[in-house]
Amino acid sequence: MTAPVLEIHLSDSDAADALHHDVRVGLSADPKWLPPKWFYDARGSELFEEITVLPEYYPTRTERELLRRSVGQIAARSAVDTLVELGSGSSEKTRLLLDQLAATGSLRRYVPLDVSESALRAAMAAVAREYPALAVHGVVGDFTEHLELLPASQGGRRLVVFLGGTIGNLLPAERTGFLTALRAALEPGELLLLGAGLATDPAVMVPAYDDAAGVTAEFNRNVLHVLNRELGADFVVDAFDHLAVWDAAEEWIEMRLRARRAMTVQLPAVGMTVHYAKGEEMRTEVSGKFRRDRLGAELVDAGFGDQVWWTDPRKRFALVLAEAA
Ligand code: AVJ
Repeated sequence: MTAPVLEIHLSDSDAADALHHDVRVGLSADPKWLPPKWFYDARGSELFEEITVLPEYYPTRTERELLRRSVGQIAARSAVDTLVELGSGSSEKTRLLLDQLAATGSLRRYVPLDVSESALRAAMAAVAREYPALAVHGVVGDFTEHLELLPASQGGRRLVVFLGGTIGNLLPAERTGFLTALRAALEPGELLLLGAGLATDPAVMVPAYDDAAGVTAEFNRNVLHVLNRELGADFVVDAFDHLAVWDAAEEWIEMRLRARRAMTVQLPAVGMTVHYAKGEEMRTEVSGKFRRDRLGAELVDAGFGDQVWWTDPRKRFALVLAEAA
């Protein structure tokens, strides 16, 4: 077993700069907004793991079942030496792929990329222990910025996986930029495996983002705890209500925090004083839900050619394996 390698392209001070920038832009906009990546401190990551097992939150279990059914076909088409995983988190679903790809005999290396160094270290240690023949090369980075820094294949091809439906967190222009940059980082013939939520009945989608136990509400409000800690801000976290709304025109679920009363918040680290009116709503996440035709066309426009699709019987989630043209 070779010792795992960790490459860091995102230092703590880069992350602090990015947070300061996002807060300055988002909290001075009208309406106010914050990017969803700031949910995921240690507590936020824990809450997200809790969300994935809620009865209402179908995406994780639907994707896992799809992956279980398709992994044989994926591996048969993917004689790759490197598995790259973007936003790897706990690398939980990756085991299904690693098992099958390891069995084909060509896989030599696993490259998880995540913004969270702590999540990455834990996932890398576990994978290195469970797959002693595999080289593990982690990259601390942001998948919207550091794709060109991914290690090249080792003479064969790479499979890049981007699961969970996280692509839906990108706004349309960001998504185009991301897919184009990803294609540019790949050689022709290399592969992308993408997991995406599909547009379905709002009566199914909305409760997935507004569960009865209130875990998603706590996850949503956690971003305010992050700002309080990282920026010395004084948000009264409990004075914000959680909202999940289906935007039929944009085809995304929007999470918002609504001020229960008028408030003035100080954010010393960015030198801002921010006012909230009673009832004011601030957007904290979009989670895009796709239609096969549109997402397929976006992949083609970005330079991905052949596509193979898998969807669950209720058409709530899709996996697509696309080859760089
Ligand atoms: C991790 C981005 C896929 O959008 O469904 C879960 C995050 N937000 N509940 C999603 C999330 C609210 C999740 N992703």
